[in-house]
Amino acid sequence: MRKATTLLAIALLGASVPAAAQTIKIGFITSYSGLNGNLGPYMERAVRLYTKLHEKELPRGVKIEFLVRDDTGPNPDKAKQLAQELIVRDKVNLLAGVIFTPNALAIAPLATEAKVPFVIMNAGTSMITTRSPYIARLSFTLWQSCYPLGQWAAKRFKTSYTMVSDFGPGHDCEDAFARAAKENGGQVVGSVRVPLQNPDFVPFIQRVKDAKPDALMVFIPAGKTATAVMKNFSELGLDKAGIKLIGPGDITTDEELPNMGDVALGVITVHHYSAAATRPANKAFVEAWKKEYGANETPNFVAVGAYDGAALIVEAIKQQKGKLDPDKTMEIFKHWKDANSPRGPISIDPETRDIIQPEYLREVKKVNGQLANVELETLSQAEKDPWKELQKKK
Ligand code: PHB
Repeated sequence: MRKATTLLAIALLGASVPAAAQTIKIGFITSYSGLNGNLGPYMERAVRLYTKLHEKELPRGVKIEFLVRDDTGPNPDKAKQLAQELIVRDKVNLLAGVIFTPNALAIAPLATEAKVPFVIMNAGTSMITTRSPYIARLSFTLWQSCYPLGQWAAKRFKTSYTMVSDFGPGHDCEDAFARAAKENGGQVVGSVRVPLQNPDFVPFIQRVKDAKPDALMVFIPAGKTATAVMKNFSELGLDKAGIKLIGPGDITTDEELPNMGDVALGVITVHHYSAAATRPANKAFVEAWKKEYGANETPNFVAVGAYDGAALIVEAIKQQKGKLDPDKTMEIFKHWKDANSPRGPISIDPETRDIIQPEYLREVKKVNGQLANVELETLSQAEKDPWKELQKKK
């Protein structure tokens, strides 16, 4: 009885206190060092830009604070430790970020246990979202790009070879491409998996050259490794041997194009985002990015995943007037859509909590003297993760 009275007193006291300024804490885990450590800053800059442009829409007195942590690249132990500290010690309302699949998988059970919604802004292996009902993914899956790529490629090339990084997203891309190619009468004559860290591409690419396929499909994590592939591909003369280099957009990520140089010209990819896209929402995004970070800076697909992820978070905060309940937050996430993302119309699939988005066929070309991923065609207006669609049919 005494306890009940005390609780009631506290409740009444709480009710009479005017709403204090409130901070929504977001545990933001990304990669600033190690493999692809250049990608973290794209993610962080994107969430900061979105928040800056939209903070006036937040309920009065509500602020967003990002608690930024470096997971040091594909390092699940580190990612788990950081997420644990953010949940237990810092009492974050949400988790967000994460470039790498193994890190997202390590965080997933903690999100479930603590009921902390986790907004994935990159990691793209399809099954990640099945590991926690508190995950929503605003980035992509490799199936979303590699499956339509395989369908397209089968109609142009009789034979292809695949080369992927030996971890989740690489395996997904290899499977998706091979399945789509086969379904459409194409033939995958060989496939090779290269180590995620420090691969020496020369022996693998030589093997591909000897097999003489019409096309080589490559997935490696976006960044400097892609430049190494391009250079080896050209140095070993695969382009001169008439082999076409194709892949998901990770291999021609916008910020790496200047480092790749002309060897990237003509490479065909499928992806959801190109900084060179001419739709008005993208032009406005790129302009805002340059205004904030400098005329020579360009966003990339990691940036757009984080930008839209921040939009999702701001919407959940607005709808709940600054008081976040994890289950309500997930309900809001599941029904979120944006007809005007820089990548085109997007929404969250309420069944899978994965993004539905357009996929574009692109070619690296020179635009005003600079290499760009020029969108040629929209292969799908609203691509749902094909892997999950196939699971349903099983
Ligand atoms: C991933 O680990 O899921 C990942 C990393 C880099 C990419 C794509 C996917 O470019």
